[in-house]
Amino acid sequence: MQELELKSKIKVCQLDELTAEEQHLIQLSIDATNRSYAPYSKFHVGAAVRLDNGIELSGCNQENAAFPSGLCAERTTLFYAGAQYPDVPVRMLAIAARGTDGELTDEPTGPCGACRQVIIESEVRAKQPIRILLYGRKHIYVIEGIRPLMPLSFSEF
Ligand code: THU
Repeated sequence: MQELELKSKIKVCQLDELTAEEQHLIQLSIDATNRSYAPYSKFHVGAAVRLDNGIELSGCNQENAAFPSGLCAERTTLFYAGAQYPDVPVRMLAIAARGTDGELTDEPTGPCGACRQVIIESEVRAKQPIRILLYGRKHIYVIEGIRPLMPLSFSEF
């Protein structure tokens, strides 16, 4: 039997290495963590998107006493973008989180599997990879499109 190695490359950098646009989007995702509704997990996630037309939108996780009814920050934000601007491609997505201590996490927070699948669909709709910025106080991960985080992913397109 053959072995297939699946490799992914992402960039690691500091905030000042990013463009003003990228830094601003990260700031929006950080701000959004303060509006998160997470009384159960107390893990506050914020996300922000920049669309092709320059519009920026942000969202955060919304929990619910009936747990599966809640929604992650990334999907809240991407669905909001799709609902408001269905024909405008998403160009960039930033994600930040505050842990249970209320502080921004040291390490970048990656999107969960379901959100990765939704990001794929946004890329299909956008016909372009979405630049993903994962914020952590220690460093930031920059990922060119979701594919590096989603090898062998499902897509009908
Ligand atoms: N959460 C997100 O908002 N994004 C993710 O990608 C992973 C998890 C939220 C869901 C829940 O409200 C809290 O973080 C703890 O899991």
